[in-house]
Amino acid sequence: AAVRKYQFDVQVKNVSRLCHAKPIVTVNGRFPGPTIYVREGDRVVVNVTNHAQYNMSIHWHGLKQYRNGWADGPAYITQCPIQTGNSYLYDFNVTGQRGTLWWHAHIFWLRATVYGAIVIMPKQGTPFPFPHPNSEQIILLGEWWNSDVEEVVKQGTNLGLPPNMSDAHTINGKPGPLFPCFEKHTFAMEVEPGKTYLLRIINAALNDQLFFAIANHNMTVVEIDAVYTKPFTTQALFIGPGQTTNVLVSANQAPGRYFMAARPFLDVPIPIDNKTATAILQYKSIPNTVLPKLPRLPAPNDTKFALGYDENLKSLNSQQYPAKVPLKVDRTLFYTIGLGINPCPTCVNGTRLTASLNNISFVMPQIGLLQAHYFNMTGVFGTDFPDRPPMPFNYTGAPLTANLKTSQGTRLSRIAFNATVELVLQDTNLLTVESHPFHLHGYNFFVVGTGIGNYDPAKDPAKYNLVDPPERNTVGVPTGGWTAIRFRADNPGVWFMHCHLELHTSWGLKTAFVVEDGPGSDQTVLPPPKDLPSC
Ligand code: C2O
Repeated sequence: AAVRKYQFDVQVKNVSRLCHAKPIVTVNGRFPGPTIYVREGDRVVVNVTNHAQYNMSIHWHGLKQYRNGWADGPAYITQCPIQTGNSYLYDFNVTGQRGTLWWHAHIFWLRATVYGAIVIMPKQGTPFPFPHPNSEQIILLGEWWNSDVEEVVKQGTNLGLPPNMSDAHTINGKPGPLFPCFEKHTFAMEVEPGKTYLLRIINAALNDQLFFAIANHNMTVVEIDAVYTKPFTTQALFIGPGQTTNVLVSANQAPGRYFMAARPFLDVPIPIDNKTATAILQYKSIPNTVLPKLPRLPAPNDTKFALGYDENLKSLNSQQYPAKVPLKVDRTLFYTIGLGINPCPTCVNGTRLTASLNNISFVMPQIGLLQAHYFNMTGVFGTDFPDRPPMPFNYTGAPLTANLKTSQGTRLSRIAFNATVELVLQDTNLLTVESHPFHLHGYNFFVVGTGIGNYDPAKDPAKYNLVDPPERNTVGVPTGGWTAIRFRADNPGVWFMHCHLELHTSWGLKTAFVVEDGPGSDQTVLPPPKDLPSC
């Protein structure tokens, strides 16, 4: 196995999009940031040096970091931030995973511009379980704000106002021809007729689940979140922030120019979408003057398409890549997801938007929770996060006029080493129903069931897929519905779980699991690295 070394210099750079130039935080002056290339089994060593006037931390989204939460990255969860002028070495092994993942800043909203792809090639001599493509291309979907993103966050969190939505979506950092000043900011991918391409698609947007399609070209999904799937062919993808999807595309249409496009799935009434990002699939030697065709995308509120799409996702579950779904459950958790309004005397309208799990809105600590856990510090967090909501109610009924009392706290759930966990995430209509892409750090999980309305513990488990459910690290909880996931808690440490819509994370839609050490000396949290930042 090789050691892959990278130097990440976090620095501010002037970047212009939509005819607006502004300073943004970047890695190595690049937007999007550099790609990490690694082979399954390799060790990765990334030295992150922070030259910016912001605190920084980087998360390697989807990498399991076995026993090694120190390299996971979420600020105040597994580490204190890297302060201006300091460095931190993220040192980790990539074992048992291959495919596309990504990295991003995990502090404030800095991942708006600080993100990049991680490509994990299978072990030398191990082919893909699908036809080998002729070539491949990374497609990073993102968002662009003309204003300062950190100022936007302050509106939402300090003033209690709904924050501004982004001004455009982007494909590989570029909004494309539907926006002003697009000439320099359009991504184009050149293809040769008859060849097949592997697209590694990553949704790095902050607040939008997206539909993605290429005019006239079907896509065959072969992998999600760095896990192989049963191939299925589709006209459009549905992809939430945090999720990755590998697809095969054949250049089998009349040579020409075709738009690829990404636009948000909007399940709550939000001002008109004028943010669709486009890029160009360009057949070799076709002149730039040929007008590209636009793809057909599902309507912005097409919940049916979104649900149907997710239903098509199944683990490959082959002999070589079996789906190891936990069949018996040691610990059953039921968490409600609630958006609500809390009093806020200092806010503009006297209220502020909030978000909670089991009516607890998470408060970020002042020190890394993993340190507090490892060194047995008291008073940093509680481990009394309730296994179920304070009272059952009609979760998805008519909007409840009064917000069920939300409390605040840094409360975690303690899980025994190697316990098999089932967690049902139930969307609620406290304020409005909305779909939420949930991400768990340190693990992949199996999505064994999902449904619309209230989860019924008497009936729904009978409908679970325990054979080939999709395995992933981020899953969409449907609008006004529920999702059941299972995983084996075999990775000791403190692992963050949150909605990957940054807005909701800011409002408190997050918690963490403390997974206890196992009995073996190789089943404990590793000692912290010497250069671990302090707060
Ligand atoms: Cu990609 Cu905690 O996030």
